[in-house]
Amino acid sequence: MSIRRSILSVPGHMGKMHGKARTSHADVIMLDMEDSVPFDGKLQARETIIRSLLETDWGDKTLTVRINGLDTPFGYRDLLEVAEAAGSKLNAVVIPKVHSAGDIHFVSRMLDGIEMNNRIDHSIGIEASIESAEGLENVSEIAAASPRLISLVFGIADFSASIGARLVSISGHGENESDIYPGHRWHYAMSCIVTAAKARGLIAIDSPYGNFRDMDGLSRSAVMTCSLGYDGKWAIHPDQIATINAVFSPSQADIDLAQKVLEAYRQAKEEGRGAVAMDGRMIDNATVRLAQRVWNQAEKLGMVAEHPSSVL
Ligand code: GLV
Ligand code: MG
Repeated sequence: MSIRRSILSVPGHMGKMHGKARTSHADVIMLDMEDSVPFDGKLQARETIIRSLLETDWGDKTLTVRINGLDTPFGYRDLLEVAEAAGSKLNAVVIPKVHSAGDIHFVSRMLDGIEMNNRIDHSIGIEASIESAEGLENVSEIAAASPRLISLVFGIADFSASIGARLVSISGHGENESDIYPGHRWHYAMSCIVTAAKARGLIAIDSPYGNFRDMDGLSRSAVMTCSLGYDGKWAIHPDQIATINAVFSPSQADIDLAQKVLEAYRQAKEEGRGAVAMDGRMIDNATVRLAQRVWNQAEKLGMVAEHPSSVL
């Protein structure tokens, strides 16, 4: 599965922005047909996206498209037309406002047929955006609905609208709003989503941070999200990518610590000792597992040269 720290959302109808996105450092480029595209630009967005997918040299960028909701006149045609014309370029389709497992079954079945008919030789993935009360209630079934699923994505703006939460700012993450709610307003929803995702081996992606000029706010929000177990975050502006990539990459201190823990574990195993000690303290298995995760991620990101073989 490709790395998904930063996902740059690019309006589908604005072809010029697609070219710029190509040279950004985002791990994933998501060409959007949904809410960044005005109603009368929907058909143009579809055509522009097909052209961009086919005619741009995307190098090793991971490419996804967000279709319109399945409860709109556009959603099914977005899927059909874009996947038929350019499915060979697509890593995944992002489905917004997923309310139930049925939404995933529908898209998955459509993709089965499109892949066969168009001789697409890889399996196009699905990313499910959880952004309604109904979607959150059904999140575990959604996460289990198809082997095509790659991630669950939290959609904060639509989720707020769905539950009728008070609109306070467009800061996008609620952490500046302790005057109206002590703690983080989205903690429950975010924890449910990350738990459902990880229970099924999926990755969890956080919504974008709305105020793209507020880098401190973005960083705070990403750090919090990362500490909850999320793997990445959408960006709505290229200026947000560096911060997001940095937060969702292990730091050198994380990597050094992981290496030390794994080395201590390997030695204990070699010497037939059950208990692992480091710096005079016992290390439990959970810490070893966490260290292994950090190490695996650093390897995927090319941040470590030689590797102490995987210990688990
Ligand atoms: C994203 O789609 C959101 O609603 O926040
Ligand atoms: Mg939304």
